[in-house]
Amino acid sequence: MQFRVGSLSALEEGQIPLRIVHQYNKHLPLRLLLLFLLLGVGLVVFLYVSMYTYRCIGIHSVEPSRIQTHEGCVEGLESWIRPPSNLVHEMNDTELFWCASLVPTIQNYPFNRTPKIAFMFLTRGPLPLSPLWDRFFEGNDRLYSIYIHSSPSYDPDFEPSSPFYGRQIPSKVAEWGRMNMCDAERRLLANALLDVSNEWFVLVSEACIPLKNFSTIYTYISQSHFSFLGAFDEDSPNARGRYNWGMEPEVNLSDWRKGSQWFELSRKLALAVVRDTLYYPKFKHFCRADSCYSDEHYLPTMLTLQSTRSLANRTLTWVDWSRGGPHPALYDEADLTESFFKDVVDGGSCMYNNHTTNLCFLFARKIAPSALDHLLSNSLEFFGF
Ligand SMILES: *[C@@H]1O[C@H](CO)[C@@H](O)[C@H](O)[C@H]1NC(C)=O
Ligand SMILES: *[C@@H]1O[C@H](CO)[C@@H](O)[C@H](O)[C@H]1NC(C)=O
Ligand SMILES: *[C@@H]1O[C@H](CO)[C@@H](O)[C@H](O)[C@H]1NC(C)=O
Ligand SMILES: *[C@@H]1O[C@H](CO)[C@@H](O)[C@H](O)[C@H]1NC(C)=O
Ligand SMILES: *[C@@H]1O[C@H](CO)[C@@H](O)[C@H](O)[C@H]1NC(C)=O
Repeated sequence: MQFRVGSLSALEEGQIPLRIVHQYNKHLPLRLLLLFLLLGVGLVVFLYVSMYTYRCIGIHSVEPSRIQTHEGCVEGLESWIRPPSNLVHEMNDTELFWCASLVPTIQNYPFNRTPKIAFMFLTRGPLPLSPLWDRFFEGNDRLYSIYIHSSPSYDPDFEPSSPFYGRQIPSKVAEWGRMNMCDAERRLLANALLDVSNEWFVLVSEACIPLKNFSTIYTYISQSHFSFLGAFDEDSPNARGRYNWGMEPEVNLSDWRKGSQWFELSRKLALAVVRDTLYYPKFKHFCRADSCYSDEHYLPTMLTLQSTRSLANRTLTWVDWSRGGPHPALYDEADLTESFFKDVVDGGSCMYNNHTTNLCFLFARKIAPSALDHLLSNSLEFFGF
């Protein structure tokens, strides 16, 4: 203790007597300890102050677009509920899926939530039929949102007044039949899940058209107790024949399903798809192009295993395979008559909430871009909008 006093007074005098330096060396470990202790305390104070500044003033080191999307509840509930103003983000799929998987665990929303349908356009390039969709969406702004996944090289040129303007999500190459097509679907779902008011998720392509007006489609989807995804089991080369025994025991042959990729999913099922880490690796490894087409099997199989009772086992999107070949028929102006639409819309029979109905399809594909003017001139007659 004497040493301390001596040392202090020596410092006050501005010089260090040799004797003390000598003693200092003798007590070097103690002195160092004290120094580190002081440094430690300083560091803690610094960290505390900077954290306080970070929280209260909001000094972030990330780009402004991210701040807007993830302010969180501290900034007021409103900012948490408000959909991301900008769909552009820097997250990779791992980060995006993680963000999308954050779910409230309290069932009741403490605010007026108007559930929306997320229309997710999976396209290569342009959306030639968008003027028909514009007309379909008109006047229903509160009830839908749009997401576009296209080739990464495609740069859309929608007018700022268009509902498609700025709705492209960060996209990657997606090839038919390959797992990267399922990746694109999951990416669409994940981006759409970031908007807390999206409740139903509809996958459509650039060759799809709506067959009914918005209110009919909204009611049909929102009142359904099941999600619309084709999922059937068939002992044929193009169904069970594509199963690979390497998928056991997570996916057994009897679990294998096939269905068209054009789905409508509830929020609950959309989440299940985004957070799947059990089936995804099996499909990525064992369902490969040429012998297996993952976009026809992954979701039907995985959701049948996870949520059998939530599935209607049929798709809402009409398509014509009757002409044979690997691709469905392309319909143009000459095919698209009033009687054709009557047949598609009212000519069927299927189950809706355990009752039989004639209205089985709400969308149709594949429609040629050249049919646009014809459809626009007759849309009221054909579709009621
Ligand atoms: C995304 O970034 C994180 C953090 O850098 C990394 O751990 C993860 O592997 C990345 N995921 C992909 C799919 O690249
Ligand atoms: C939509 O169509 C249905 C019949 O198909 C009709 O009863 C309803 O009034 C239409 N809604 C609007 C908003 O036009
Ligand atoms: C697949 O079959 C095995 C053996 O019968 C069984 O243990 C496993 O639970 C089955 N998997 C599923 C997903 O039902
Ligand atoms: C869909 O198919 C599964 C079997 O794969 C069945 O258990 C389920 O009841 C079916 N759903 C409806 C609505 O019929
Ligand atoms: C439909 O029928 C099944 C079996 O009959 C029943 O379990 C289910 O609750 C019914 N669902 C609806 C929405 O009525």
